[in-house]
Amino acid sequence: MQQSRQREKASSGRWGARLARLALGWGLLGMATALAQGAIPNATCLACHGQAGFATRLGDGSSLSLYVDARQFAHSVHGGKLACVDCHTDITTAPHPPRPFPNRRAVSLTYYQVCRNCHFEQYTRLLDSIHFTTLSKGNRNAPVCVDCHGAHDIQPPNQPRSLISRTCGKCHGQIEQVYLRSVHGRALVDGNPDVPVCTDCHQAHAIANPLARSWHLNIPQLCARCHANPALMAKYKISTQVLTTYLADFHGMTASLYRKENITPAEFTATCTDCHGVHDITPVTGAGSKVIKANLLKTCQRCHPGATANFPAAWLGHYAPSLRHAPLVYGVKMFYGIFIPFIIGGLILQILLHLWRVVVNR
Ligand code: HEC
Ligand code: HEC
Ligand code: HEC
Ligand code: HEC
Ligand code: HEC
Ligand code: HEC
Ligand code: HEC
Ligand code: HEC
Ligand code: HEC
Repeated sequence: MQQSRQREKASSGRWGARLARLALGWGLLGMATALAQGAIPNATCLACHGQAGFATRLGDGSSLSLYVDARQFAHSVHGGKLACVDCHTDITTAPHPPRPFPNRRAVSLTYYQVCRNCHFEQYTRLLDSIHFTTLSKGNRNAPVCVDCHGAHDIQPPNQPRSLISRTCGKCHGQIEQVYLRSVHGRALVDGNPDVPVCTDCHQAHAIANPLARSWHLNIPQLCARCHANPALMAKYKISTQVLTTYLADFHGMTASLYRKENITPAEFTATCTDCHGVHDITPVTGAGSKVIKANLLKTCQRCHPGATANFPAAWLGHYAPSLRHAPLVYGVKMFYGIFIPFIIGGLILQILLHLWRVVVNR
């Protein structure tokens, strides 16, 4: 199912990319036609809007700055590519009639729609997001394009990569602060390109509800994208057996079953983040680690309230049993590995001998 979902995603991605190219094409075509028709040049708009301090009053009495910094615009991703009227298609004359707005937020919620004309792919993804659901339920603070990217000063959104957590942190500041202290966040700030930022786990546009059960069950695969990658993990000497050992134990088996059968359980089994934390993941041997011996029992007790000091020992951790880790389990396994074939082999031999005696001695 996962595979078919991925395939579906890939093909919708491909179509999305085609549509996006088409949309960009149309946008550029529109631009060319506009130029051919002698559309209003930026300089005309900037004659008024390039004046610092230029402003108007909104319906709620607040002031809206109408100043556009020409240099900032020229240095943005659209600088030298777009004319003002490529986005402000509603303005066809200069000077132009006023368009009254009740408040600042209404300006953004009206004008962000222009991005769709050329970035159809990102726009349709946004429609699938929890942000858009929140917006359509009436929370006008949920972000639209301009809240994350800006309008006249748009820069490449992921350069440097740490810009991404700052963008999300504008509204999710507490989570950003926690994340920046985690093993992943610290490395990001040091310029390490291998660790996950907000969008690696949540995506940028089609952000799903991370508290949904179905999303929760996908967490092992999310972490495994990196933590089961031998080339990547070798650099940090981190074991890549974490996924397979997880899937082989009771929690992992239950999670796989729920996922396969599409079951929504009342009581939830543990996935990676229930033991390691989410935005506050630490090195496993670090002092604040939720999984060092001193804290592990507390971690288990969240779901196993009756657990006592010996309880964590019921679980092998991420180790396959060996002489070093869980020697008893290893020993029992070895014992059965030799003992059972020996017994069965003996039984078969005995029966064969018996038959042979019966046949030969008849
Ligand atoms: C002669 C000066 C002048 C020129 C030229 C001009 N504008 Fe304006 N613009 C204004 C004024 C004044 C307002 C405020 C209108 C109001 O109070 O609602 C404004 C408002 C706006 C707004 C905010 C929406 C609104 O109506 O409040 C946008 C967007 C805008 N202008 C874009 C442009 C673009 C694009 C151009 C070039 C095609 C342009 N303007 C040319 C004077 C000008
Ligand atoms: C990439 C599309 C795009 C281009 C190109 C663009 N604008 Fe805008 N403009 C927007 C959006 C979106 C908003 C709403 C911004 C917000 O909510 O902060 C906006 C808002 C405005 C406003 C209202 C005040 C404000 O800043 O919110 C003015 C005035 C304006 N633009 C003028 C211009 C002028 C002049 C140019 C050309 C130099 C220009 N725009 C080029 C998308 C664009
Ligand atoms: C008229 C078409 C058009 C409109 C409208 C438009 N863009 Fe763009 N956008 C472009 C083009 C062309 C590029 C440059 C693509 C390139 O260089 O590969 C671009 C680049 C970008 C990039 C950089 C992409 C990257 O990979 O680094 C971002 C981010 C972006 N636009 C956001 C927006 C936002 C937000 C809006 C609405 C406020 C908007 N655009 C409106 C045409 C448009
Ligand atoms: C919640 C914040 C947020 C919102 C809302 C948002 N973006 Fe983005 N966008 C980002 C981030 C962060 C990236 C960089 C993602 C990365 O590299 O992982 C990005 C990347 C992009 C890119 C570069 C190509 C790509 O897909 O990575 C374009 C173009 C773009 N956004 C356009 C838009 C448009 C158009 C809208 C509105 C329909 C929009 N974005 C809404 C945060 C946002
Ligand atoms: C302009 C503010 C703003 C920005 C920027 C923003 N968000 Fe949000 N986000 C919200 C609001 C508002 C909600 C609705 C839920 C709430 O009230 O907390 C939300 C909800 C979410 C949720 C679901 C939370 C839940 O409790 O179900 C996730 C996940 C999320 N955002 C991730 C991101 C990521 C990742 C980024 C950066 C790419 C980002 N957000 C940028 C305002 C923002
Ligand atoms: C390593 C993957 C990962 C990274 C990186 C990550 N998240 Fe999350 N995030 C999760 C998981 C998993 C959950 C679900 C938590 C749960 O089940 O309680 C979550 C939950 C959330 C929620 C909703 C629940 C809450 O705690 O309010 C928001 C909002 C959120 N993340 C925003 C962000 C932002 C902003 C960033 C970047 C600063 C970020 N996340 C980075 C994995 C990640
Ligand atoms: C984009 C790749 C990526 C993703 C996704 C990712 N990680 Fe990591 N993780 C890393 C890298 C790289 C390190 C090593 C960072 C360092 O040591 O500087 C790391 C370190 C860790 C460590 C510390 C190991 C130690 O003791 O040194 C833990 C625990 C961890 N990650 C758990 C998780 C969990 C749980 C998830 C899923 C919610 C996850 N990671 C998702 C790349 C990733
Ligand atoms: C998020 C909740 C959660 C956390 C945290 C958690 N467990 Fe569990 N665990 C469960 C649930 C639910 C079951 C029963 C279903 C199953 O087997 O997955 C279970 C089953 C088990 C079982 C199988 C026997 C039994 O009681 O059913 C053992 C042993 C166990 N857990 C050990 C641990 C240990 C050790 C820790 C701490 C390192 C831990 N668990 C942390 C939810 C959790
Ligand atoms: C029941 C709790 C529990 C669950 C569930 C769990 N872990 Fe662990 N994890 C631990 C403990 C305890 C350790 C430290 C001892 C060990 O390695 O067994 C650890 C160690 C690690 C390490 C460090 C390994 C190293 O070589 O230093 C990584 C990385 C890790 N886990 C990732 C994950 C990922 C990814 C998942 C989900 C697929 C996951 N863990 C699920 C408890 C858990």
